[in-house]
Amino acid sequence: MTGPRAGDRLHVLLLFGGRSPEHGVSCLSARSVHAALDPDRYTVMTVGITRDGRWTLLDGVPEAPEGALPAVGERGDTVGLVRTRTAPVLVRFGDTFEGRSVGPVDVCFPALHGPYGEDGTVQGLLASFGVPYVGADVASSAIGIDKRQMKSVFAARGLPQVRHLTVHRHEWEQDPSATLDELLEELSPPLFTKPARQGSSIGIRRCEDAAELRAGLEEAFGYDRVAVVERALDGVRELECGVLGNATVRVTRPGETVHTGRFYDFDAKYLSPVRLQCPADVPGHVARTCMQHAREAYLAVGARGMARVDFFYVEDTGAVYVNEINTIPGLTPKSMFPPVWAAEGLAYPRLVDRLLELALEAARAGERYPP
Ligand SMILES: Nc1ncnc2c1ncn2[C@@H]1O[C@H](COP(=O)(O)OP(=O)(O)O)[C@@H](O)[C@H]1O
Ligand SMILES: [Mg+2]
Repeated sequence: MTGPRAGDRLHVLLLFGGRSPEHGVSCLSARSVHAALDPDRYTVMTVGITRDGRWTLLDGVPEAPEGALPAVGERGDTVGLVRTRTAPVLVRFGDTFEGRSVGPVDVCFPALHGPYGEDGTVQGLLASFGVPYVGADVASSAIGIDKRQMKSVFAARGLPQVRHLTVHRHEWEQDPSATLDELLEELSPPLFTKPARQGSSIGIRRCEDAAELRAGLEEAFGYDRVAVVERALDGVRELECGVLGNATVRVTRPGETVHTGRFYDFDAKYLSPVRLQCPADVPGHVARTCMQHAREAYLAVGARGMARVDFFYVEDTGAVYVNEINTIPGLTPKSMFPPVWAAEGLAYPRLVDRLLELALEAARAGERYPP
């Protein structure tokens, strides 16, 4: 691993875009992170990953066209990480495949969401080159993105969750009717169907009856070979806590996303107005329960650096359920993670500084953090 060079700026590799359906959201997150990085302290290399996985060197992070999400185009030169004798280096390749160094890489900020970014794949690549990186390690990322694995790890820790079952695509393909009957015997609609490994509500449906459940499963299996079927809660409030830290962990009070749609779908998240209330206007004991569960959930998956833990709060019964953990939470101007920290006195640029410090600290400690 290379540490920051004395008297020099820290060389940060900012990664965004990528092969996930959340490509555009990642560009939005990266734009915010880029704007928050102090140019006096950091030399930033902005690398956009195209939708088919090519790493390209860009001059900044693409802007969003009106009413749409930004995307990484085809124009940038191909770059790659190379481990040289002295340090990991970003190398630019010309058409003749001769490489020229862009610069050494001290630390990477993967502002990536979903598959091939938040799931341990990019983390594995960075770890194998000895590049310190922001956020959870390989195993924690892989557990965090997989709703099936995440839920079993949470259950082992005794965290309260909504009743759910998982279905494999091969089971479904063998006998859809029997699978449907079994599911409906165990769980009565309304239900939610979710691909195990996605994010931003992609591939998620609310199902009111057997026909909708069938359609919901078909859709989920379009994204993953495993689907989660879960009881739908009505009249829930959605609360989210920010978590930061390696060996010692800080948790924010919950914030609330107030949306008008039936659920917090992709359009509600990024393309239409949504109101964030930080901190959420909930009784003190509800906030404390969320904070305690957020810490437990973070430790349960073995996260480090950062995460956002999401909850369903049923006001009528007072019940709080852990919904999920996101190991690379949205960092866009409409996301919850920056404002929950701002409400605790940690402004966005300091938050980004802190994340880079935590990445370097984790690398120095050899990534050994017992839960
Ligand atoms: N069991 C449920 N009851 C009520 N609403 C739900 C339930 N599961 C998901 N939702 C709604 O769908 C959204 C996305 O689901 P979530 O599990 O958080 O997936 P993602 O990883 O895509 O964010 C939630 O924010 C919520 O609005
Ligand atoms: Mg969610």
